[in-house]
Amino acid sequence: GSAQPSDIAKVLLTEEQIATRLGEMAADVDRDYQGRDLLLVGVLKGAVMVMADLSRALQHETVAMDWMAVSSYGSGTRSSGVVRILKDLDTDLEGRHVLIVEDIIDSGLTLSWLISNLKSRGPASLEVATMFRKPEAAQADVDVRYVGFDLPNEFLVGYGLDWAEKYRTLPYVATLAPHLYS
Ligand code: PRP
Ligand code: MN
Ligand code: MG
Repeated sequence: GSAQPSDIAKVLLTEEQIATRLGEMAADVDRDYQGRDLLLVGVLKGAVMVMADLSRALQHETVAMDWMAVSSYGSGTRSSGVVRILKDLDTDLEGRHVLIVEDIIDSGLTLSWLISNLKSRGPASLEVATMFRKPEAAQADVDVRYVGFDLPNEFLVGYGLDWAEKYRTLPYVATLAPHLYS
């Protein structure tokens, strides 16, 4: 729905801003992958929105989609860097041009594990597209080819980003009201 829940403090990116930026990212991807088959690998569950919208914004004619579900070991809200595969790809990556699609990179730990895991499967190329990036990730040692927006280090929800599985389906990105976590 489009009503703003009371748990939402401030909208940082509107639906329109996200759609505009996605169009620009899709044009970059189209240009870079001209003449090459492209395999998009979405990381469940957060990347569902950006996968659906980015893939449909592409003009590219030979785009395939596959999905991985991963989970960080350890408790708490921070990822530990030790990752467990909950659902692996159906696709053999050997010789494929692979673009990992993420909603957000925070510590960069999930992604750096994923990159080394997928690299070992022999893809022809491996790049990353993320809709959002937190400041810590910008400093992490992961090479991200396509970045939608750099965002502040706040509790964010919407467009795939969840707070305890809530608010993923909001079409915009917003900060969470402070009373929820302070
Ligand atoms: C979130 C997000 C990224 C990851 C980024 O996923 O979607 O996949 O965390 O964090 P990091 O850079 O610190 O590793 P989460 O594990 O919450 O699962 P979800 O996509 O199902 O929400
Ligand atoms: Mn995720
Ligand atoms: Mg999450």
